[in-house]
Amino acid sequence: MTGRTTADKIFLVTGANRGLGLSLVDEALRRGASKVYAGMRSPLPHADPRVTAVQLDVTDPTDIAAAAARIDDLDVLVNNAGVSVTDQLEDRRALDAHLAVNLYGPYAVTSAFLPHLIRAEGSIVNVLSLGAIAPVPVMPSYAVSKAAAASLTQSQRALLLASGVSVHGVYAGPIDTDMIRDLDLPKTPADEVARAILNGFEAGAEDIFPDPLSAGATAGWDAGQVKNLERANLALFAGAGR
Ligand SMILES: NC(=O)c1ccc[n+]([C@@H]2O[C@H](COP(=O)([O-])OP(=O)(O)OC[C@H]3O[C@@H](n4cnc5c(N)ncnc54)[C@H](OP(=O)(O)O)[C@@H]3O)[C@@H](O)[C@H]2O)c1
Repeated sequence: MTGRTTADKIFLVTGANRGLGLSLVDEALRRGASKVYAGMRSPLPHADPRVTAVQLDVTDPTDIAAAAARIDDLDVLVNNAGVSVTDQLEDRRALDAHLAVNLYGPYAVTSAFLPHLIRAEGSIVNVLSLGAIAPVPVMPSYAVSKAAAASLTQSQRALLLASGVSVHGVYAGPIDTDMIRDLDLPKTPADEVARAILNGFEAGAEDIFPDPLSAGATAGWDAGQVKNLERANLALFAGAGR
């Protein structure tokens, strides 16, 4: 995948009011994004005039349709909004709640903005988690939802290849945000993670490991069997004449 630029591009970041989403907005602005649409469940103003707050609950089809109708041009969609609640797989409602935001959310938002992204030959950045690869036992429903979103990311990458839309997956380790405030773990500051995500995006990395833990845990990923199998499947698919 060739490198992409942030400067002069139009971004939409979901879950942009706090945590990693807010850091991604600020990092995109620092790198010269021309406009950033900040998707939020409860829109808040931002000091930078390049930011436009957008009402966007990623589980709400009405919000998604209204946002897609309101936004004319888009180069980069960052599916960042997410939820994580501890559970023990004893109650299916926990699984449904995670899938609703972490899988069907990015699926629905991406589907709505696909015409914009294809027109721009733009990019999709899906914020996943190391938990997509190796579940953390206290949050299995979260891991299931992120693993499904990782598979969605791989399929979108293959399906959109011919359109020129690049699709990036972010396999983040623990980040210092509200999401894991109560977990006693080493965490990376959100602004550092945002910087590493946009570094990876600009370098054209398909899979981005934006913090010391994820980078260490996945050393050799690019030449590893999982990635090679993804490439082999893609070659088979292309060979099937699509
Ligand atoms: N923190 C970590 O250790 C970690 C590690 C790996 C990956 N991640 C991923 O990084 C992303 C950002 O998480 P974070 O750490 O910044 O968590 P956070 O501080 O809890 O923020 C979560 C964000 O998602 C938004 N959100 C939740 N449900 C939403 C919905 N239905 N529609 C729209 N927005 C919604 C929240 O909005 P409200 O303020 O309205 O709730 C908030 O802006 C998530 O995808 C998460 O899974 C986090």
